[in-house]
Amino acid sequence: MKVAVYPGSFDPITFGHLDIIQRGAKVFDKIIVAILINSSKQPLFTMEERKQMILESVKGMGLDIEVDSFEGLLMDYVQKREVHGVLRGLRAISDFEYELQIASINRKLYDKVETLFLMSNNQHSFISSQMVKEVAKYGADVSELVPVHVAQALAVKYHK
Ligand code: PNS
Repeated sequence: MKVAVYPGSFDPITFGHLDIIQRGAKVFDKIIVAILINSSKQPLFTMEERKQMILESVKGMGLDIEVDSFEGLLMDYVQKREVHGVLRGLRAISDFEYELQIASINRKLYDKVETLFLMSNNQHSFISSQMVKEVAKYGADVSELVPVHVAQALAVKYHK
């Protein structure tokens, strides 16, 4: 059974992330969506909220997906979980340098597991969690960017 970890902040999960999860599931039997516990960043959503939003989003996809969190180095987590690959999405050229840096450092830290990059659907190439939050904060419609329950959760955070 081939397992990949899909790491990220997922604050919150978007259609772009879900596209990568679905594409990754064509290559791997199981995907572990691993949310980084980052003490230096102040996320909008708590870890539990982010986990629940991901679980709700992948429910009904018929895929083997686990949602977990990790602290510290990704490659330590990769070794602990004995996964076979790291999954990351590429939306545009502008992602490349950042991703190359992460993948190169990760390879230095542990070279037995490869990072695989999947191209997101063109339709999703402009979506980022940061953009979604920015747009939702000012009350604009984000229903084409995130699942409906995420859009509702954003509305509650910003306008309750
Ligand atoms: O969704 P993001 O914020 O772009 O994801 C970035 C993430 C979580 C993949 C990256 O920051 C990460 O793996 N951090 C864990 C710490 C680590 O392993 N650092 C060394 C490589 S940058």
